[in-house]
Amino acid sequence: MGKVLIKNIKGLVQYGEDLPQFRRGEEMKTLPILENAFLALEDGVIVAYGSMDDWGGITDWRDLEVIDAEGKYVLPAFCDSHTHTVFAKSREEEFVDRINGLSYEEIALKGGGILNSARKLAGMSEDELFEQAMARIDLLKSYGTGALEIKSGYGLSVEAELKMLRVIKRLKEASGLSIKSTFLGAHAFPAEFKENHRGYIDMIINEMIPKIAEEKLADYIDVFCERNYFSVEEMAEILEAGAKVGLRPKVHVNQFSALGGIKKAVEMNALSVDHLEELTDEDIEALKDSNTMATILPSCSHFLSIPFGDAKRLMENNAAVALASDFNPGSTPSGNLQFVWSLACVKMRMTPEEALNALTINGAYAMDLSSTHGTISVGKKTPILITKEIPNLAYIPYAFGDQHIERIIE
Ligand code: NIG
Ligand code: FE
Repeated sequence: MGKVLIKNIKGLVQYGEDLPQFRRGEEMKTLPILENAFLALEDGVIVAYGSMDDWGGITDWRDLEVIDAEGKYVLPAFCDSHTHTVFAKSREEEFVDRINGLSYEEIALKGGGILNSARKLAGMSEDELFEQAMARIDLLKSYGTGALEIKSGYGLSVEAELKMLRVIKRLKEASGLSIKSTFLGAHAFPAEFKENHRGYIDMIINEMIPKIAEEKLADYIDVFCERNYFSVEEMAEILEAGAKVGLRPKVHVNQFSALGGIKKAVEMNALSVDHLEELTDEDIEALKDSNTMATILPSCSHFLSIPFGDAKRLMENNAAVALASDFNPGSTPSGNLQFVWSLACVKMRMTPEEALNALTINGAYAMDLSSTHGTISVGKKTPILITKEIPNLAYIPYAFGDQHIERIIE
């Protein structure tokens, strides 16, 4: 890739050395921006940045691409810490059912939802799943995503869960982005285990987890802790089995109901708790001062017309908040994080600065990528975003629905 010099940058965003691993509470208002700046990269690694006034000039012009970013902002790529990017087919039929009055939960109870995706995935080859997911990742990149987590969870059998995780492994190798893989066998009870929850949990613990550990197919473990899905006790048992083989929890909790899963997950050292549309005082208490990232998914709230997570209350209570897409065919058929940024500002009243912290430094932490991604610091290897010419940074979430990213440098 060689050397790249970006000059005349209107604002170099989220830069600095010796930065914290993530920002929490009040600190989320902090967003360093250096005006009239330059940034130098070598083979994708940040080697220098600073003010154009202090720039010492180029000594070695060989193999150097110079980009003029006059009027444009430069920022670290977004870090999407919660996605279901590998799936078989879209589910517009359920979207229309919801327009006609059915709820997401009602659709799931009649065999739609996650089970619908699992049926569709069962008949699809690893190659087909891989090709489709690669095309989706290319689209995510164009919107500014530079690192992402992908979950299994549409397999729900030993064979199909492994198939999904193998596809994610291939994406890690081929996509050019940093990808983290999460095992979500406990996404729903398959139809044949509807009356035999114990049987499916035993299959997860005794068959899926050992194979996944043996083939090193996952970085994290997830459970959908929710009424009609997995109880807090079931979640704890599955997370415990994952922890024994080194899989740290990142869990779906409090999407429709607050069952106490947040407190339990924090106690079990979860890296993140995700969704959080419903929050009790006890949940807030558990996240106060904690190192577990509170990850909110506003595009899911938008698409399902459910409450938006209360990021303001979390930040007032010194929690650390990340934003992610939840990209999946059922609840969030968009992985566009520019739109997530806008929703966070408009619907959750996060400031543009707070929301960008949630999309970069805090998202990176929620995937253990703090040492390489999320900020512009010497030695980091994050993809870099160059915006189009815009009047200021707030213009991105303000002018929602537009494409503001001109280029991503990997
Ligand atoms: O995060 N809530 C659980 N899982 C996904 C949706 C899955 C689906 O509907 O396919 C989510 O929203
Ligand atoms: Fe999800």
